[in-house]
Amino acid sequence: MSSPYQQRREQLMAQIGSATAVFASAPLAVMHNDVEHPFRQDSDFYYLTGFNEPQAVAVLAPHHEEHRFVLFVRPKDKEKEIWSGYRVGVDEAKDRYGADQVYPIAELDEHLPKYLEKADQLYYHFGHDEELNHRILRYWQRLLVTYTKRGTGPVAIADSHLLLQQMRRVKTADELELMRHAIAISAKAHNHARDITQPGRYEYEIQAEMEHLFRLEGAMGPAYPSIVASGPNACILHYIENNRQMKAGELLLIDAGCAYGYYNADITRTFPVGERFTDEQRILYELVLEAQLQAIEKVQPGRPFNEFHDAATRVITEGLVELGLLAGEVDTLIEEKKHKAFFMHGTGHFLGLDVHDSGTLRNPDKTWKPFEPGNVVTVEPGIYVAPDYEPVEGQPQVDERWRGIGIRIEDDVLVTATGHEVLTAAVPKALKEIER
Ligand code: GLY
Ligand code: MN
Ligand code: MN
Repeated sequence: MSSPYQQRREQLMAQIGSATAVFASAPLAVMHNDVEHPFRQDSDFYYLTGFNEPQAVAVLAPHHEEHRFVLFVRPKDKEKEIWSGYRVGVDEAKDRYGADQVYPIAELDEHLPKYLEKADQLYYHFGHDEELNHRILRYWQRLLVTYTKRGTGPVAIADSHLLLQQMRRVKTADELELMRHAIAISAKAHNHARDITQPGRYEYEIQAEMEHLFRLEGAMGPAYPSIVASGPNACILHYIENNRQMKAGELLLIDAGCAYGYYNADITRTFPVGERFTDEQRILYELVLEAQLQAIEKVQPGRPFNEFHDAATRVITEGLVELGLLAGEVDTLIEEKKHKAFFMHGTGHFLGLDVHDSGTLRNPDKTWKPFEPGNVVTVEPGIYVAPDYEPVEGQPQVDERWRGIGIRIEDDVLVTATGHEVLTAAVPKALKEIER
């Protein structure tokens, strides 16, 4: 059986025909003064190779007679490996990663152009590696100069990431297995967080226990900076200081998930720090939950991608009008984006190797692409009433009792052949399950 990486390469090569595609690994990032950030491979590169080192280039040349998959990697180097860790090296990379040919990365200039010479197009994504971007342009320009003599060579560069976006939208069984694992660990951490939350504790204590569990269960760590936001902090969408002492009568919003085997979970729950919701908290919570449930209903194969956001927006806007937090006709308010005073973000995004995962959302004629079986999307509406809320002209002032309440509920939902599956169902969100 071929590896999932090989299957993906074959799938890509079938699409690009006589072109050559070149992929760059992520670069090594320096944190400060000689201290390295943990290395995180580029997601497209990892998706196609499973190779987990920096300073590498992968080439797919389906038209090449012998070398359809070529890797350029760091050579073995005893001394460097003592400092920075194990390297697979040139010899081993061939067998381990299924490459037809492997070269040391220092020989890129020498060998890469020959895989471009006979290609009719070059697929490459101009990413953060400026030096490689320049090299690729140089190779291409040189080949253009000699094109008339040779009669072959890439006449254009196309973006490889666009192709990968299409592929990565639809998760395969092996990807889903990793995602389910990431989600199971994250769900366990959320349930633990709810058990240990009580007035007087600090947000960072909850964060620490969740992230402890992530690692303890074999996850790589948090998929993104954990948000543990009590009281008014929940109205700051990317609050990550997590240093406040929690009080009875407040809500705690936790947006946290782990990465396992490079695949991410992304879960948000909001619940009382003490035992029960206040009336205002309960009303807004039920509104967000209703919006979320209706949005999840729209996550179905064949349904256009915008419908779930539209559903959530409508429920929230109608609810806010009923409560007197917004004033006007619902359709007009939505059209004029007045709901954004309280619900200012999208309802969800694809999830996978990246937390905000790849996936083209629209067709060239601007219509929305439909969900397909194998898509995984987050569904995460929210309502946030800033403590210092100022209405725009024509909108009502908001009573003190609503202020400083921030609520988001986020699940990860898989599109199946016949409907959907809420992958994060193990973390309760019904009122009666989260009140104590
Ligand atoms: N935690 C990031 C997000 O929900 O998109
Ligand atoms: Mn999230
Ligand atoms: Mn999310």
